Amino acid sequence: MQALPPDLASLADYERHAALRCDPSVWQHIAHGAGEANRAAFGRWGLLPRPLADPAGGSTATTLFGQAHAAPLLLAPVAYHALVHPQGELATVRAATALETTTVASTLSSVTLEDIAATAQAAAVELRRTAPPPLWFQLYLQPDFARSLALVRRAEQAGYGVLVVTVDAAIKRAEFTLPPGVRAANLADEPVAPLHSAAVGAGGVFGSALAAQAPTWATIERLRAETGLPLVIKGLMHPADVLRARDLGADGVIVSNHAGRVVDGVAPALTQLAVARAAAGPDYPLLFDGGVRRGSDALKAMALGADAVLVGLPQLHALAVGGVAGVAHMLHILRTEFELAMAQCGLTRVSAINRDLLVGL
Ligand code: FNR
Repeated sequence: MQALPPDLASLADYERHAALRCDPSVWQHIAHGAGEANRAAFGRWGLLPRPLADPAGGSTATTLFGQAHAAPLLLAPVAYHALVHPQGELATVRAATALETTTVASTLSSVTLEDIAATAQAAAVELRRTAPPPLWFQLYLQPDFARSLALVRRAEQAGYGVLVVTVDAAIKRAEFTLPPGVRAANLADEPVAPLHSAAVGAGGVFGSALAAQAPTWATIERLRAETGLPLVIKGLMHPADVLRARDLGADGVIVSNHAGRVVDGVAPALTQLAVARAAAGPDYPLLFDGGVRRGSDALKAMALGADAVLVGLPQLHALAVGGVAGVAHMLHILRTEFELAMAQCGLTRVSAINRDLLVGL
């Protein structure tokens, strides 16, 4: 912790420092998207404090898909952590283990999913814990279903407890070439799936291989039939799609617009949360990501219907600035701010968070 710059008191501070430390082309790559719109949506809601409530016995503990979580705050899947730190995801997962936070490991991680799981186990032993926090795996469907399935089997084998399938980035422009030494470690033996379309000018989308290979609802049904892991669909924004996911047997949905990185002009993710909740019904597991930078943001998202929230970019900011200590500190800040916001709103349990805490501004 002593190696960290002294003026780091918020996730925004980490972002500011990271901008100065990252290679400019890496920074441009990680920062692009409609993150601003996601952030701004939180400003349209205000929290209503409830003083005088007794905070004794308060807890952020929650249960998701039968697993105990210390708090409803998770690390979103983010590709290629090695872009900002030599240990990449291994540093991130060590910090997450220390802070009892679930990692959702990306298909496009720069170390293998097996190494991430083993590092989490080793960190738990070092910390004298009985087990690391639950680990989840995020799947990008590969053009060849057998390859997708091979990734799922590896994740099952390595002890990942939830399968998150990201569906919102299959049709996307390519804009970044990985620097030497950074690779999609999980896909090392295979040609990297053409997840992104060729550069503008190289032809359209309709009729291209990209469109032909894009997963559809039928692919999700197939996946559902193939795994016993809880299946969570990440990247739905339309309430009808949330309903369809629920009806085909997905165990949960992450309302997300991929940090606004895919669809030009996409709506802020937060604006879709309440309608998604209305469509899914009160008990369906609904998670959220997109622009969460403060504990109060997490509380607002939960008041609008999320059962838990994930943070994406702040992982890379913290990793770039302070490695393991940076990510641990970032998670500590977020968790502390969340507890503060809960206590100030008179809440001692996550299950008590509800829409009455908010006023529209
Ligand atoms: C992402 N995201 C993402 N999602 C996913 O399912 N698999 C992935 O590999 C990645 N990679 C990735 C890289 C970078 C640089 C960013 C910024 C995002 C999306 C991510 O999981 C999440 O949806 C958003 O990042 C959430 O928004 P915030 O918290 O970054 O504002």
